[in-house]
Amino acid sequence: MRRITMLGTGFIANFYTVTLHGMRSRDQVTMVCGSRLEAAREFAGRHGIPRYSASIEEAVNDPETDLVVVALPNYLHKEGVLAAAKAGKAVMCTKPLGRNAAEAQEMLEAVEKAGVFAGYLEDLVYTPKTLKAIESVKNGALGRVLWTRSREAHPGPHSDWFLRKELSGGGAIVDMGCHCIEIGRNFIGKEVRPVEVICWADTQVHPIDAEDHAVGLVKYSTGAISQFEVSWNFRGGMDLRDEVSGTNGTIWLNHWLRTGFEMFTSVGERGYVAEKAESDTGWLFPVGDEVHALGYAHMFTEQLDALDQGVQPMETFYDGYVVNAIMDACYQSAETKQWEPVHLDIWRGEETAAAEARWVEYDADFYLIKEEKMPDGKTKLILKNKQTGEVIQRVRATITS
Ligand SMILES: NC(=O)c1ccc[n+]([C@@H]2O[C@H](COP(=O)([O-])OP(=O)(O)OC[C@H]3O[C@@H](n4cnc5c(N)ncnc54)[C@H](O)[C@@H]3O)[C@@H](O)[C@H]2O)c1
Repeated sequence: MRRITMLGTGFIANFYTVTLHGMRSRDQVTMVCGSRLEAAREFAGRHGIPRYSASIEEAVNDPETDLVVVALPNYLHKEGVLAAAKAGKAVMCTKPLGRNAAEAQEMLEAVEKAGVFAGYLEDLVYTPKTLKAIESVKNGALGRVLWTRSREAHPGPHSDWFLRKELSGGGAIVDMGCHCIEIGRNFIGKEVRPVEVICWADTQVHPIDAEDHAVGLVKYSTGAISQFEVSWNFRGGMDLRDEVSGTNGTIWLNHWLRTGFEMFTSVGERGYVAEKAESDTGWLFPVGDEVHALGYAHMFTEQLDALDQGVQPMETFYDGYVVNAIMDACYQSAETKQWEPVHLDIWRGEETAAAEARWVEYDADFYLIKEEKMPDGKTKLILKNKQTGEVIQRVRATITS
């Protein structure tokens, strides 16, 4: 059983607490901290939490808790994490780890120096669908991963601080691109080095300094490309989709809209439909169990098990640091309109990509480029001569008995 200090009383602190207390859990949030005592008291009452505070210092140092969950706005992640490290307590921090790689690195070094457990709360790699998809990719079901695409788009954030660049570190890239980038890393392989990025970012709709739209490509040392698309002005709910393409297969994931639960109501659903749902009448896409669908339940289960067993969780502060470094390069690229290198002062993966056989053997003389059954029943083979480089085609009649 864990007794937990929850830092934050907002949107994500609520989801985290509901998850931690859910399904007859043995773990308990026993101290909560908000920016105002009144908000902390209200949150404590709502979730049956015995103690509350308006001081991060006091909440972290509560003598009864041994785990601190940082669910604060981005500009306070570092303060929460450094306080936990100083107190010698295990810590889990929401995404993004830092506002930039320098901040993330400081947090990484602080927890490692203090020798405390540190987990990066990147829920979207823990959705049941994503966990299964990652396992299939690791088992080789898709062959060599060539391309990943991850999209998060919704009508915009729910609190003012997200829109203030100095507090958040950036706009839609920092807020949602961090999810997409880490999903891509999980499919491509975390040991594979992100080399360079190209990114378009713009403020198309909102009167803010930060970007509200962006599209980026992250190139990895294997040659794999990881594409992300983020919008703070997508209309119609929350669009959360991932795709993976490999030499031998494809995966398409849709996490939020059209997932198999579709409802029409002319009078209104009369309750909460789903995160960032824009309407409660007409055709709706409700979500049966957000805590599971968004990965929160599997995330805390895996991270708490790792903490109990004294091992690293699937998502670490190091992962958060790499994601921040990739996002820093994205901002640089959006400015220069050029490919920009990803700077990693600390790299713990493979130095160079493992050389893989790229071409498919047909026979001693040819590589196979393509094989296709045609409408006339014959099979067409497109081959490349290994010696001359010539590309030819052969037609093979289908043999029927
Ligand atoms: N899917 C996800 O993983 C996910 C989803 C949403 C938000 N987040 C992350 O969670 C963090 C918080 O976002 P949110 O949506 O809950 O924001 P929010 O605005 O809903 O809540 C922020 C909370 O921080 C508290 N706070 C602010 N200043 C404080 C201080 N000095 N001391 C103590 N508490 C203070 C506020 O009381 C508030 O409860 C952000 O880093 C965000 O990126 C993650």
